[in-house]
Amino acid sequence: MTANQGIKPVTCEVNEKGHLQIGGCDLVELADKYSTPLYVYDEQTIRTIAKEYKDAFKDYPNIKMLYAAKAFMTKAICKILSSEGFGFDVVSGGEIYTAYKAGVDMSSCLFNGNNKSVEELEMALNLGVGKISVDNFLELALLNQIAFSKGKKIDILLRITPGIECHTHEYIQTGHLDSKFGFDLSQVDEAIELILDEYENLNLIGLHAHIGSQIFETQIYYDEVGVILKEISRIREKFGLELHTINLGGGLGIKYTDSDVPPSVKEIAEKITSSVDYHSKKYNTGGISIFIEPGRSIVGTSGVTLYTVGSSKQVPNGKKYIAVDGGMADNPRPSLYQAVYTTQVANKPNAALSQTVTLAGRFCESGDILIKNVKMPDLEEGDVICVYDTGAYGYSMSSNYNRVLKPAAVLVNNGQSDIIINRESYEDLISCDMVPERLN
Ligand code: LLP
Repeated sequence: MTANQGIKPVTCEVNEKGHLQIGGCDLVELADKYSTPLYVYDEQTIRTIAKEYKDAFKDYPNIKMLYAAKAFMTKAICKILSSEGFGFDVVSGGEIYTAYKAGVDMSSCLFNGNNKSVEELEMALNLGVGKISVDNFLELALLNQIAFSKGKKIDILLRITPGIECHTHEYIQTGHLDSKFGFDLSQVDEAIELILDEYENLNLIGLHAHIGSQIFETQIYYDEVGVILKEISRIREKFGLELHTINLGGGLGIKYTDSDVPPSVKEIAEKITSSVDYHSKKYNTGGISIFIEPGRSIVGTSGVTLYTVGSSKQVPNGKKYIAVDGGMADNPRPSLYQAVYTTQVANKPNAALSQTVTLAGRFCESGDILIKNVKMPDLEEGDVICVYDTGAYGYSMSSNYNRVLKPAAVLVNNGQSDIIINRESYEDLISCDMVPERLN
């Protein structure tokens, strides 16, 4: 079992007070000390899964692991994953800037995205981002122009849509045909002709694809490698161009509920490397370097969110709602993707499950429901609710809806807790507001 296959962080246990604890820190005490809502990240879970990735690929030395920063990015996370030997998949000026400010080796970064701006591309080149995955014809032209103006030649991959569908939520599928991401296979030749004939400041080193997110099927990765290596051999035949880098994207799923059965990192690694071996022989494409870009599976299981119970409401002949002090602004996934989470009460994790309730958020929308029809113990105001597996795409997709302040995040390890994101203040909230003189 690898860390992505458990619902809880690897250090999660019930302590002698009968409270949940993570990283040696009592969650009730954390809620008290830092207030709620609170994101709690377990450093040991992140490092465990990072090591599991390295271990799973140890027999394939030509592998580069890039953490997909979009899942959760702060300077502290950059430090942890750099120290584990990961590079970074970045998708915006903001992510590039954060990595830079955290002291990341920028040559280990790969810049992805389907509509990168001129400013972002310039920033990437100025700060020494190592590789760029080019998504479309406009970007090829812009990037060549920018690289030319700086007298640089930049390594690029072409993002392609391999035409592989996966069984995940429609909004997080990306590798299917007719996707907004990447070049359709029928457009690859035109892109290569332009690179070879006109774009002298671009150095094409390989192909990139990403099929989707929260994937449980391992065969998809096998098939993806096959499609990409076939394309690489076709390109060699047609253009005499040797490409040696394949970027397979991210996507490995995590276990949000008992019914989720994600594969282990090892199983994914075996599918990928056996497919590279098989298809390299079949298509005679030796010396392949593999890049992977996991995001959710690196940080998802490590993070939980703590909330405090407030009002409760029994609708006559209807649902029982328990409202907490956060919701769709700190975790939009239930309302966006109908995502389902597992929860426990941090101050009484072992109490008998006596009722079925709907955990409601505090935001002004009926759709702001955190978990529907969940079995819970008796609950009262002040109880601390722990929602598991919020480490990925929670904080990173959070908003200030209703002008509610974004929560703090703490990193826990060996009984120590440290703030890695400060709770916003009301002053932070209005810091970008301007009032035109004539309104005063
Ligand atoms: N590489 C590329 C090019 C991607 O687009 C993504 C995710 C990843 C890597 C990382 O995928 P992961 O290992 O995290 O599955 N907000 C959605 C997920 C969106 C994923 C977008 N791309 C959610 O909360 O489920």
